[in-house]
Amino acid sequence: MPQHIAVLGGGLIGASWSALFLAYGHSVHISDPDGSADAFCRGFVRRAWPHLRDLTQGLPDHPPLDRLRVSSTIAAACDGASFVQECGPDRIGPKHAMIKEAETALAPHVLIASSTSSLMATDIQAQAQHPDRILVAHPMNPPHLVPLVELVAGRLTSPDAIPQAEAFYTSLNRVTIRVQKERPGHLANRLTSALYQEAVNIVAEGIASVEDVDRAIAYGPGMRWGLMGPHLIYHLGGGAGGYRQYLEHLGPTQQTRWADLGRPTLTDDLIEQLVLGLEQEIKELDTQELEDARDRALVALAKLKQGLPF
Ligand SMILES: NC(=O)c1ccc[n+]([C@@H]2O[C@H](COP(=O)([O-])OP(=O)(O)OC[C@H]3O[C@@H](n4cnc5c(N)ncnc54)[C@H](O)[C@@H]3O)[C@@H](O)[C@H]2O)c1
Repeated sequence: MPQHIAVLGGGLIGASWSALFLAYGHSVHISDPDGSADAFCRGFVRRAWPHLRDLTQGLPDHPPLDRLRVSSTIAAACDGASFVQECGPDRIGPKHAMIKEAETALAPHVLIASSTSSLMATDIQAQAQHPDRILVAHPMNPPHLVPLVELVAGRLTSPDAIPQAEAFYTSLNRVTIRVQKERPGHLANRLTSALYQEAVNIVAEGIASVEDVDRAIAYGPGMRWGLMGPHLIYHLGGGAGGYRQYLEHLGPTQQTRWADLGRPTLTDDLIEQLVLGLEQEIKELDTQELEDARDRALVALAKLKQGLPF
């Protein structure tokens, strides 16, 4: 059933969510005070559309831009909305202000799902008139191609809100998980941060270059992580004895490595070293070329994963 969805913030994530919502037949009203948001979001949807067509059956050749509106005010975007995806700046002040304005225009039962990467649902809902309808629904960039949505309730979120949000994102062919406790970074970004910490430490300690760290992941563990998670991978690493065998046999070597992992500090010198290292890695490729290559590969991977049993 087509819905009218308000997207608060038409930056990178708001534009990507909007492309997905349009692909599933919904109408979208984005609010953004930045005068360039309209052109940015329309351009984004046009570029995303061929990928969405590749992944979604029955989409027309051209994006339905007649179902997309962009306004400068939140109240206009929320007028008549049945779902709100909040995609504003990742700071608590702007989130509170955006929710305050949204609530002037929304019916009390309409869910407000925040895309926040770093804030807690409990803090976001703190000043709301109807805090029970607020939750975190955190995507990975770009949400129109990466299926994961992490759902996190705040202390005042209604028990019905998470299942309702789950049904909504599942209808968009997303893969949802429920994060049971509020923690910085929710779940997926805690995992990526743990890896990134060591990726930075390896460069800081001179163990390898930025380029070799990236190659190690992209052509090594990343190939497997695109298919299955670390617990399942080590289940296969245990051979016939499975995960228990792996943990009993090789668990101690994991503990030795954990004890040796670094805790780098992002000093000016280290930032310079990382940026220079990345420039050497990407050579002449610009961001658009890198994004296009990434998105083509993500589409192929998403299709491949449709046939997998896990
Ligand atoms: N970039 C990522 O990789 C990523 C991934 C997952 C989640 N997120 C989360 O998504 C949210 C948006 O991130 P982004 O990367 O799209 O940021 P962004 O800076 O690209 O976009 C934010 C947009 O919000 C707009 N804005 C500012 N004040 C506003 C207001 N009062 N009303 C409406 N719009 C307003 C800005 O003009 C801007 O266009 C953040 O909470 C972030 O944590 C980001």
